[in-house]
Amino acid sequence: MRLILLGAPGAGKGTVAKLLTQLDGSVQISTGDILRGAVAAGTELGLKAKEAMNSGGLVSDDLIMGIMEERLQEPDCAKGFLLDGFPRTIPQAEALKGLLTKLGIELDFTVEIDVPRDVILDRLTTRRTCSNSACQAIYNVKSNPPKQEGVCDKCGSPVIQRDDETEEAISKRLDTYDEMTAPLVGFYKNEGNLLTVSATDSQEVLKAIQDKLAG
Ligand code: AP5
Repeated sequence: MRLILLGAPGAGKGTVAKLLTQLDGSVQISTGDILRGAVAAGTELGLKAKEAMNSGGLVSDDLIMGIMEERLQEPDCAKGFLLDGFPRTIPQAEALKGLLTKLGIELDFTVEIDVPRDVILDRLTTRRTCSNSACQAIYNVKSNPPKQEGVCDKCGSPVIQRDDETEEAISKRLDTYDEMTAPLVGFYKNEGNLLTVSATDSQEVLKAIQDKLAG
């Protein structure tokens, strides 16, 4: 499958993407995970991205398109991919459209995961993430804690709170979403291939996607 997952921070894009990868081996491509990996590794990309990320702003469109142009041509994408957190601005959406045409790739559809703001705020303050950049498993102290507190079930690395999970950064990320990313809902509606799922249960989101894929 080839999908874009759209939704505010904390809507559950990463959680649903991980469930979808188990269905047919499609890969999850999270620009947030790629950038966090680069920050942790101290690469040039990480140095450029760190400030924008920690304050809740966006990394430049040019930098993101450079990453995605390379990533979409890696061999593991041949089985399908789930774009999680990309595109995030209208220029990124337009550039992605041109890139997919150039590569001869057709998307199935875009999924908008629509979750109420109070649920999102609660989730983001209680989320925990595996610190191993190759794993990045997602937990939640309320709904999905690791079996042993502070230790990743999958790889045994420490489970931490993300640097952009302060109250101030969360509030800025939500404002950035409203201003820069929410207009993509209209963009993909106009393209005629948008599935909106208003649900707080990730299994319900998964089922709606599977139903649409089955036609
Ligand atoms: P990114 O990592 O993409 O963050 P985000 O969009 O803010 O998304 P999140 O990871 O916060 O949320 P999610 O929807 O994946 O939720 P999750 O499944 O974890 O980006 C980080 C930063 O990188 C950006 O701010 C920006 O600076 C930069 N960046 C990234 N991409 C960029 C781009 N394209 N252009 C420019 N800059 C870019 O779920 C959240 C929590 O809820 C978890 O604890 C989870 O366990 C829990 N949960 C999920 N579903 C449920 C459920 N059904 N019931 C109960 N709990 C649930």
